[in-house]
Amino acid sequence: MIGGTPVRDALDSALVALNAAGVDSPRLDAELLLAHALGVDRARLIIDRDLSLAGRAAREFQTLVRRRAIDREPVAYLLGTKGFRHIVLDVDSRVLIPRPETELLVEVGLGLPAAASVLDVGTGSGAIALALKSERPDLRVRANDISQEAVDVAHGNARRLGLDVSFSVADLLDEPCDAVLSNPPYVASGDALPRDVAEHEPATALFAGPDGLDVIRRLVARAAELGVGLVALEHGMGQAEQVARIATENGYGDVEHLDDLAGIERVVVAKR
Ligand SMILES: C[S@@+](CC[C@H](N)C(=O)[O-])C[C@H]1O[C@@H](n2cnc3c(N)ncnc32)[C@H](O)[C@@H]1O
Repeated sequence: MIGGTPVRDALDSALVALNAAGVDSPRLDAELLLAHALGVDRARLIIDRDLSLAGRAAREFQTLVRRRAIDREPVAYLLGTKGFRHIVLDVDSRVLIPRPETELLVEVGLGLPAAASVLDVGTGSGAIALALKSERPDLRVRANDISQEAVDVAHGNARRLGLDVSFSVADLLDEPCDAVLSNPPYVASGDALPRDVAEHEPATALFAGPDGLDVIRRLVARAAELGVGLVALEHGMGQAEQVARIATENGYGDVEHLDDLAGIERVVVAKR
Protein backbone atom coordinates (compact mmCIF):
# COMPACT_ATOMS: atom_id res chain seq x y z
CA MET A 1 0.00 0.00 0.00
CA ILE A 2 1.34 3.47 -0.86
CA GLY A 3 0.96 6.15 1.85
CA GLY A 4 -0.71 5.58 5.22
CA THR A 5 0.92 4.83 8.56
CA PRO A 6 3.63 2.14 8.58
CA VAL A 7 2.49 -0.91 10.50
CA ARG A 8 5.32 -0.55 13.04
CA ASP A 9 4.21 3.01 13.94
CA ALA A 10 0.57 1.95 14.21
CA LEU A 11 1.59 -0.87 16.56
CA ASP A 12 3.76 1.45 18.66
CA SER A 13 0.96 3.93 19.29
CA ALA A 14 -1.49 1.13 20.12
CA LEU A 15 1.07 -0.28 22.56
CA VAL A 16 1.26 3.04 24.38
CA ALA A 17 -2.52 3.11 24.82
CA LEU A 18 -2.81 -0.55 25.85
CA ASN A 19 0.14 -0.33 28.28
CA ALA A 20 -1.29 2.80 29.87
CA ALA A 21 -4.61 0.99 30.32
CA GLY A 22 -2.86 -1.90 32.12
CA VAL A 23 -3.90 -4.57 29.60
CA ASP A 24 -2.17 -7.93 30.33
CA SER A 25 -0.70 -8.74 26.90
CA PRO A 26 -0.50 -5.40 25.07
CA ARG A 27 1.75 -6.45 22.17
CA LEU A 28 -0.17 -9.59 21.33
CA ASP A 29 -3.48 -7.73 21.58
CA ALA A 30 -2.24 -4.88 19.37
CA GLU A 31 -0.98 -7.33 16.74
CA LEU A 32 -4.20 -9.35 16.72
CA LEU A 33 -6.35 -6.22 16.41
CA LEU A 34 -4.17 -4.73 13.68
CA ALA A 35 -4.15 -7.94 11.66
CA HIS A 36 -7.94 -8.07 12.03
CA ALA A 37 -8.39 -4.45 10.90
CA LEU A 38 -6.15 -5.08 7.88
CA GLY A 39 -7.74 -8.46 7.11
CA VAL A 40 -4.37 -10.23 7.11
CA ASP A 41 -2.66 -12.99 9.07
CA ARG A 42 -0.67 -11.82 12.13
CA ALA A 43 2.53 -13.23 10.57
CA ARG A 44 2.10 -10.83 7.65
CA LEU A 45 2.65 -7.86 10.02
CA ILE A 46 6.19 -9.07 10.60
CA ILE A 47 7.02 -10.44 7.14
CA ASP A 48 5.63 -7.62 4.99
CA ARG A 49 7.77 -4.57 5.71
CA ASP A 50 5.84 -2.42 3.20
CA LEU A 51 2.50 -2.95 4.90
CA SER A 52 0.82 0.25 6.03
CA LEU A 53 -2.49 1.36 7.44
CA ALA A 54 -4.88 3.93 5.97
CA GLY A 55 -8.54 4.78 5.43
CA ARG A 56 -11.21 2.43 6.72
CA ALA A 57 -8.70 -0.04 8.20
CA ALA A 58 -7.01 2.77 10.15
CA ARG A 59 -10.33 3.93 11.58
CA GLU A 60 -11.30 0.38 12.47
CA PHE A 61 -7.97 -0.24 14.22
CA GLN A 62 -8.38 2.95 16.24
CA THR A 63 -11.86 1.92 17.33
CA LEU A 64 -10.72 -1.59 18.28
CA VAL A 65 -7.80 -0.29 20.35
CA ARG A 66 -10.10 2.17 22.11
CA ARG A 67 -12.62 -0.58 22.92
CA ARG A 68 -9.82 -2.79 24.24
CA ALA A 69 -8.04 -0.08 26.25
CA ILE A 70 -10.94 1.98 27.58
CA ASP A 71 -13.89 -0.42 27.67
CA ARG A 72 -11.69 -3.47 28.37
CA GLU A 73 -13.56 -5.60 25.85
CA PRO A 74 -11.81 -8.98 25.49
CA VAL A 75 -9.86 -9.47 22.26
CA ALA A 76 -11.87 -12.58 21.34
CA TYR A 77 -15.12 -10.58 21.36
CA LEU A 78 -13.51 -7.83 19.28
CA LEU A 79 -12.29 -10.37 16.73
CA GLY A 80 -15.47 -12.45 16.99
CA THR A 81 -13.56 -15.73 17.08
CA LYS A 82 -11.52 -17.95 19.39
CA GLY A 83 -9.39 -20.99 18.57
CA PHE A 84 -9.99 -24.07 20.71
CA ARG A 85 -7.97 -27.23 20.02
CA HIS A 86 -8.29 -27.75 16.24
CA ILE A 87 -11.39 -25.66 15.63
CA VAL A 88 -12.21 -21.95 15.52
CA LEU A 89 -15.41 -20.87 17.26
CA ASP A 90 -17.50 -17.77 16.71
CA VAL A 91 -17.86 -16.00 20.05
CA ASP A 92 -19.62 -12.90 21.33
CA SER A 93 -20.81 -11.56 24.65
CA ARG A 94 -23.61 -14.17 24.82
CA VAL A 95 -21.03 -16.86 25.66
CA LEU A 96 -17.93 -17.37 27.78
CA ILE A 97 -14.68 -17.22 25.80
CA PRO A 98 -13.30 -20.79 25.79
CA ARG A 99 -10.10 -21.06 27.86
CA PRO A 100 -7.08 -23.28 27.08
CA GLU A 101 -7.45 -25.23 30.37
CA THR A 102 -10.89 -26.43 29.25
CA GLU A 103 -9.15 -28.47 26.55
CA LEU A 104 -8.38 -30.97 29.37
CA LEU A 105 -12.05 -32.00 29.29
CA VAL A 106 -11.79 -32.80 25.59
CA GLU A 107 -8.75 -34.95 26.34
CA VAL A 108 -10.82 -36.89 28.88
CA GLY A 109 -13.48 -37.39 26.19
CA LEU A 110 -10.87 -38.74 23.76
CA GLY A 111 -10.33 -41.67 26.14
CA LEU A 112 -13.98 -42.82 26.06
CA PRO A 113 -14.92 -46.15 24.43
CA ALA A 114 -16.22 -46.23 20.85
CA ALA A 115 -19.73 -44.85 20.30
CA ALA A 116 -20.12 -43.72 23.93
CA SER A 117 -22.80 -41.11 24.62
CA VAL A 118 -21.48 -37.82 25.97
CA LEU A 119 -23.19 -34.73 27.33
CA ASP A 120 -21.46 -31.34 27.55
CA VAL A 121 -23.40 -29.52 30.30
CA GLY A 122 -23.22 -25.72 29.99
CA THR A 123 -21.81 -25.75 26.50
CA GLY A 124 -21.54 -21.98 25.93
CA SER A 125 -20.03 -21.55 22.45
CA GLY A 126 -20.13 -25.35 22.02
CA ALA A 127 -16.38 -25.59 22.59
CA ILE A 128 -16.09 -28.95 24.39
CA ALA A 129 -18.81 -30.77 22.44
CA LEU A 130 -17.67 -29.54 19.03
CA ALA A 131 -13.94 -30.05 19.58
CA LEU A 132 -14.64 -33.57 20.83
CA LYS A 133 -16.95 -34.45 17.93
CA SER A 134 -14.37 -33.13 15.45
CA GLU A 135 -11.72 -35.44 16.91
CA ARG A 136 -13.92 -38.43 17.78
CA PRO A 137 -16.75 -38.57 15.21
CA ASP A 138 -17.82 -41.98 16.53
CA LEU A 139 -19.00 -40.54 19.87
CA ARG A 140 -22.67 -39.56 20.26
CA VAL A 141 -22.29 -36.01 21.50
CA ARG A 142 -25.06 -33.85 22.94
CA ALA A 143 -24.74 -30.47 24.62
CA ASN A 144 -26.97 -28.18 26.59
CA ASP A 145 -27.06 -24.82 28.26
CA ILE A 146 -29.49 -23.00 30.50
CA SER A 147 -29.10 -19.96 28.24
CA GLN A 148 -31.05 -19.93 24.96
CA GLU A 149 -28.59 -17.32 23.65
CA ALA A 150 -25.64 -19.64 24.29
CA VAL A 151 -27.41 -22.52 22.53
CA ASP A 152 -27.98 -20.23 19.52
CA VAL A 153 -24.23 -19.47 19.34
CA ALA A 154 -23.26 -23.13 19.80
CA HIS A 155 -25.74 -24.24 17.17
CA GLY A 156 -24.37 -21.68 14.72
CA ASN A 157 -20.85 -22.97 15.33
CA ALA A 158 -21.95 -26.59 14.78
CA ARG A 159 -23.62 -25.68 11.48
CA ARG A 160 -20.62 -23.71 10.22
CA LEU A 161 -18.21 -26.50 11.21
CA GLY A 162 -20.51 -29.21 9.83
CA LEU A 163 -20.46 -31.19 13.09
CA ASP A 164 -23.31 -33.46 14.14
CA VAL A 165 -23.94 -32.43 17.75
CA SER A 166 -27.45 -31.91 19.13
CA PHE A 167 -28.14 -28.95 21.41
CA SER A 168 -30.90 -28.19 23.86
CA VAL A 169 -31.82 -25.62 26.46
CA ALA A 170 -31.83 -27.40 29.82
CA ASP A 171 -31.02 -27.05 33.49
CA LEU A 172 -28.16 -29.54 34.01
CA LEU A 173 -28.90 -33.15 32.93
CA ASP A 174 -32.11 -34.03 31.18
CA GLU A 175 -31.46 -37.69 30.27
CA PRO A 176 -28.93 -40.47 30.98
CA CYS A 177 -25.60 -40.78 29.12
CA ASP A 178 -22.28 -42.59 29.54
CA ALA A 179 -20.23 -39.50 30.36
CA VAL A 180 -20.71 -35.88 31.36
CA LEU A 181 -18.01 -33.36 30.52
CA SER A 182 -18.64 -29.93 31.97
CA ASN A 183 -17.04 -26.60 32.60
CA PRO A 184 -19.79 -25.22 34.82
CA PRO A 185 -19.90 -21.81 36.51
CA TYR A 186 -17.67 -22.05 39.61
CA VAL A 187 -16.88 -18.53 40.80
CA ALA A 188 -18.08 -17.67 44.32
CA SER A 189 -20.57 -14.81 44.28
CA GLY A 190 -18.83 -11.67 45.41
CA ASP A 191 -15.38 -12.80 44.22
CA ALA A 192 -13.53 -10.02 42.40
CA LEU A 193 -12.81 -10.72 38.73
CA PRO A 194 -10.73 -8.79 36.20
CA ARG A 195 -12.71 -6.00 34.47
CA ASP A 196 -12.49 -7.75 31.08
CA VAL A 197 -14.34 -10.74 32.55
CA ALA A 198 -16.69 -9.05 35.03
CA GLU A 199 -17.96 -6.41 32.63
CA HIS A 200 -18.18 -8.45 29.44
CA GLU A 201 -18.62 -12.20 29.99
CA PRO A 202 -22.10 -13.47 30.97
CA ALA A 203 -22.69 -13.68 34.73
CA THR A 204 -24.65 -16.97 34.31
CA ALA A 205 -21.45 -18.50 32.94
CA LEU A 206 -19.40 -17.44 35.96
CA PHE A 207 -21.13 -17.40 39.33
CA ALA A 208 -22.42 -20.35 41.34
CA GLY A 209 -23.42 -19.38 44.85
CA PRO A 210 -21.51 -18.39 48.00
CA ASP A 211 -18.66 -20.92 47.56
CA GLY A 212 -18.90 -21.29 43.76
CA LEU A 213 -19.97 -24.94 44.06
CA ASP A 214 -23.77 -24.71 43.83
CA VAL A 215 -23.94 -25.88 40.19
CA ILE A 216 -21.33 -28.63 40.70
CA ARG A 217 -23.23 -30.01 43.73
CA ARG A 218 -26.51 -30.22 41.80
CA LEU A 219 -24.81 -31.54 38.67
CA VAL A 220 -23.00 -34.42 40.41
CA ALA A 221 -26.10 -35.42 42.39
CA ARG A 222 -28.19 -35.46 39.20
CA ALA A 223 -25.51 -37.44 37.30
CA ALA A 224 -25.49 -40.06 40.08
CA GLU A 225 -29.30 -40.23 40.01
CA LEU A 226 -29.23 -40.91 36.25
CA GLY A 227 -26.46 -43.52 36.58
CA VAL A 228 -23.84 -41.59 34.58
CA GLY A 229 -20.60 -43.63 34.71
CA LEU A 230 -18.04 -40.83 34.29
CA VAL A 231 -18.21 -37.17 35.25
CA ALA A 232 -15.37 -34.79 34.37
CA LEU A 233 -15.65 -31.31 35.83
CA GLU A 234 -13.52 -28.24 35.49
CA HIS A 235 -13.27 -26.23 38.72
CA GLY A 236 -11.58 -23.17 40.17
CA MET A 237 -8.22 -22.88 41.85
CA GLY A 238 -8.40 -24.39 45.37
CA GLN A 239 -11.70 -26.24 44.77
CA ALA A 240 -10.20 -29.64 43.86
CA GLU A 241 -10.66 -31.25 47.29
CA GLN A 242 -14.23 -30.04 47.71
CA VAL A 243 -15.21 -31.22 44.23
CA ALA A 244 -13.63 -34.63 44.87
CA ARG A 245 -15.58 -34.86 48.14
CA ILE A 246 -18.84 -34.02 46.39
CA ALA A 247 -18.10 -36.79 43.87
CA THR A 248 -17.31 -39.46 46.47
CA GLU A 249 -20.36 -38.48 48.56
CA ASN A 250 -22.45 -39.19 45.46
CA GLY A 251 -20.97 -42.66 44.93
CA TYR A 252 -18.14 -41.78 42.52
CA GLY A 253 -15.42 -43.81 44.30
CA ASP A 254 -12.70 -43.49 41.67
CA VAL A 255 -11.49 -39.87 41.56
CA GLU A 256 -8.56 -38.44 39.61
CA HIS A 257 -7.22 -34.86 39.46
CA LEU A 258 -5.84 -33.26 36.29
CA ASP A 259 -3.53 -30.22 36.29
CA ASP A 260 -3.54 -27.39 33.77
CA LEU A 261 -0.35 -26.18 32.06
CA ALA A 262 0.44 -23.96 35.04
CA GLY A 263 0.41 -27.04 37.31
CA ILE A 264 -2.87 -26.01 38.98
CA GLU A 265 -5.48 -28.70 39.72
CA ARG A 266 -8.26 -27.89 37.25
CA VAL A 267 -10.34 -30.96 36.51
CA VAL A 268 -11.82 -33.77 38.58
CA VAL A 269 -12.55 -37.01 36.72
CA ALA A 270 -14.91 -39.18 38.77
CA LYS A 271 -16.07 -42.70 37.89
CA ARG A 272 -18.48 -45.21 39.39
C1 LIG B 1 -18.05 -21.49 32.49
S1 LIG B 1 -19.24 -21.43 31.17
C2 LIG B 1 -18.58 -22.70 30.10
C3 LIG B 1 -18.92 -22.54 28.65
C4 LIG B 1 -18.21 -23.55 27.74
N1 LIG B 1 -18.50 -24.91 28.14
C5 LIG B 1 -16.72 -23.33 27.77
O1 LIG B 1 -16.02 -24.08 28.46
O2 LIG B 1 -16.24 -22.40 27.10
C6 LIG B 1 -20.63 -22.19 31.94
C7 LIG B 1 -21.86 -22.37 31.07
O3 LIG B 1 -22.85 -23.07 31.84
C8 LIG B 1 -24.12 -22.53 31.59
N2 LIG B 1 -24.97 -22.85 32.75
C9 LIG B 1 -25.04 -22.21 33.95
N3 LIG B 1 -25.91 -22.85 34.74
C10 LIG B 1 -26.39 -23.91 34.05
C11 LIG B 1 -27.32 -24.93 34.34
N4 LIG B 1 -27.95 -25.01 35.52
N5 LIG B 1 -27.60 -25.86 33.37
C12 LIG B 1 -26.97 -25.81 32.16
N6 LIG B 1 -26.08 -24.85 31.85
C13 LIG B 1 -25.78 -23.91 32.78
C14 LIG B 1 -23.86 -21.04 31.37
O4 LIG B 1 -24.90 -20.42 30.66
C15 LIG B 1 -22.52 -21.08 30.61
O5 LIG B 1 -22.72 -21.12 29.23
